[in-house]
Amino acid sequence: MSLIRVNQSSVTMSAWSGAAILFRFLKTATVAEVSMNTSFCDRDIISITDFSREEILHLCEAGQRMATLEKTGKRNSLRDALKYRTLSYMFYEPSTRTRTSFNTGMRELGGRYDGFSGTEGTSVMKSETVRDTVTMMCANHNDVIVMRHPLDGSLQWAADVANIPVINGGDGKNEHPTQALLDVLTIYALKHGRLDGIRVGFGGDLSHGRTVRSLSLALSHFDNVTIRWAAEDFLGMPDDLARLLVSHGVRVERDSSVRDVMRQVDFYYMTRPQLERMPGVTQKDIAAMMKQYRIDPPKVDGFDVRVLHPLPVNSEIAEIDYRVYFTPAQAFFTQAEFGVFLRKALLHEMLGHEGYRRYDGRLPAELGVGNNRLPRGILGAKQSAMFIDKIHDGTVIDHLAPGSLRAVSDALDLENRGYSCTTATIPEKSNPFIKTNLPEPSERDLKTVALLSPEPTIDAIAGGRIAAKFVYLLCANANCITRVVNEDVPPRFYRDRDAVRCRYCRRQYSITSRKATEDEKSSWIASLPGGIEPVAYPD
Ligand code: NCD
Repeated sequence: MSLIRVNQSSVTMSAWSGAAILFRFLKTATVAEVSMNTSFCDRDIISITDFSREEILHLCEAGQRMATLEKTGKRNSLRDALKYRTLSYMFYEPSTRTRTSFNTGMRELGGRYDGFSGTEGTSVMKSETVRDTVTMMCANHNDVIVMRHPLDGSLQWAADVANIPVINGGDGKNEHPTQALLDVLTIYALKHGRLDGIRVGFGGDLSHGRTVRSLSLALSHFDNVTIRWAAEDFLGMPDDLARLLVSHGVRVERDSSVRDVMRQVDFYYMTRPQLERMPGVTQKDIAAMMKQYRIDPPKVDGFDVRVLHPLPVNSEIAEIDYRVYFTPAQAFFTQAEFGVFLRKALLHEMLGHEGYRRYDGRLPAELGVGNNRLPRGILGAKQSAMFIDKIHDGTVIDHLAPGSLRAVSDALDLENRGYSCTTATIPEKSNPFIKTNLPEPSERDLKTVALLSPEPTIDAIAGGRIAAKFVYLLCANANCITRVVNEDVPPRFYRDRDAVRCRYCRRQYSITSRKATEDEKSSWIASLPGGIEPVAYPD
């Protein structure tokens, strides 16, 4: 559901009946207890970077109010708020807290939930794409989707596809925005509303998880924030994240020991090693790497620090020793309950209005088209390397990486598909190319090439002349959904100040092609949207 995101002023009020909502709330709780912010109405929740400081604070207050209702015996006082609303949970990866706390929130607001937890028993086992599975959940009359998926950027894609709001429950090692919001709510609650000047330590695996990324970016909205961390290089804070945080005014410091961090922070945010995202690395390797970074009673002793953890704790590694569970430092179970308050508040704000989105079976055409073709000038309009197997109509796949020719031609398998395939390398230029009478390579063909040899130049040959020429760009993040050929996600980029970013995983992209001129590069960059523009879903 991309109609209402990023730009709050575009919030549509068409389905919103203020009087009816007010009436409904008055029956159950006082208006002072439950205030709403229309900027969350039907909004996708994809990245914590889409939230303003005010919105984060608003959700903290809304979460606190849910906590107060709970503590004053009014858990079910909003039991009619989401009557007849249904949440669809789509969990491609394991989850205990995220999925069940959303369900609890829904239940206490009088709504329902349905979905899958693990792909066993779903048509994902029959190679159904994310696009098609998400579309089914819209066709099934759900009001909101909460999804978790192993690929970075898969949640932005789901939000583009769906005509109902989508909440990111974790996409690969990218983001987990509602975890960040509940973490911030926990800090806010334990610090009596203070977030400016907060000092947070990070430990465990800062590199392969999504919670550290989202939480640290959430904290970057506040003033005078310090982040300290201690971990092995392999598990340390990614450079791109540290740079981003520093550019947002966060002080980021690396310490050599956990105790050095503990001494200087208000909260220590421990995380589990994300073994599922480290192919080839064994539990034993990680246990050795983490040995001196585990949290045990001597590490917290004498410090006024609260230990947080998104959970689960890996009981074999025991990154938090069980004895810490019984010390005043332990705050991770409080944090887990704040997950219910935060998600209940968020669902209430998103869906607590009249009306619903009717499904009509159509997808926006733009979901089939990328903006990743960097046009190049056609000098002389004559086919280069004419001496080799002239083709009158077809395609030249040019400027392949040295040594990649065999792999690319094998992967394209042109001859078995009934097309010609001539491979050659011009020795002095050492850039291999392929000539084929294939008239228009498909997006899947182009992705296949770009995965093996980044940024190929594609010449469309018509009537013996070059009719069009472009460099095909593909996000360089190995875990980005745009790189999975059969998901058919059209690569899209946007401009973010001076940087170019992937629309889906939001990683920065740098053009490496030495063939495209600076002018060609800058005019492609100028043609990009200046942000993640909403997809116009048919109303
Ligand atoms: C985290 C996740 O899945 O990203 N857990 C959670 O949502 N509470 C962290 C983890 O699995 O390590």
